[in-house]
Amino acid sequence: MNIPAKIEVGKGKLIVKLPLTNPTGKIRVKRRGKTSNYGIPIATRKEVFKEIDYVEWQISYATDNPPVESKVEDIKLNGQVGFELTKLLCEGIKIGILSNNDIREMETFIKDIKKEDTLEENEEILREGTKYEVKGGFQKFIEKSPLFIKNNAEKGYFVEIILKHKQRAVGLQAMVYLCIYINQLKDGGGKLLMGRTARPREFGILEITSENKEIIIDIVKAFAIASCQHRNDIQSILQQVVSKCRK
Ligand code: ADE
Repeated sequence: MNIPAKIEVGKGKLIVKLPLTNPTGKIRVKRRGKTSNYGIPIATRKEVFKEIDYVEWQISYATDNPPVESKVEDIKLNGQVGFELTKLLCEGIKIGILSNNDIREMETFIKDIKKEDTLEENEEILREGTKYEVKGGFQKFIEKSPLFIKNNAEKGYFVEIILKHKQRAVGLQAMVYLCIYINQLKDGGGKLLMGRTARPREFGILEITSENKEIIIDIVKAFAIASCQHRNDIQSILQQVVSKCRK
């Protein structure tokens, strides 16, 4: 099951509604342990929200069949239609959260990315042998996968880029995740979520204003360095939103 995010527009703010009860979808609530630094999905209908919980959103910018709640009809990319990040960019420009300066910063960042800067093409997953052997004569190896995190603790979010082997091809695949701490989200009544469980099919509400617009800029930067393909896609999306999403 995948319950999509809903992106709405208020006065000077983007209102992003994220499902809290969909652990198998692209938006999941996770809890990060103190020692492992690894987020584990939590059953939010049973477990009380804690300060250390965050919503992990595998955010996209274009797809074949976007949900109406976050679609941008006018923006096309290789036959797909813009949504999610594209909607944040488009509406963010329209309501003036993203300034000309912000746009220029993103354009310059993307333009300056060289072949050596993109992660899919330049990173690798390594297997290192150890001296340990287990029952049956199996040698222990440790697999090391690179992972990139930009933490903006002050604004209550971080962006992760995780590299995996492609499932049906050679090479690596970069996945971009926007992670938002639960204390940044409010419920339908404007209250914080901590200290209670999620209600059936509940959404948590994130407001993006000029105060925390770096969220959008950091996701753009993450895709821009993730791979050459993503870089080119995001460059095209940015060009299109600049010309089609006027104030
Ligand atoms: N394709 C669509 N969404 C993606 C994401 N979040 N990361 C990498 N590739 C994607």
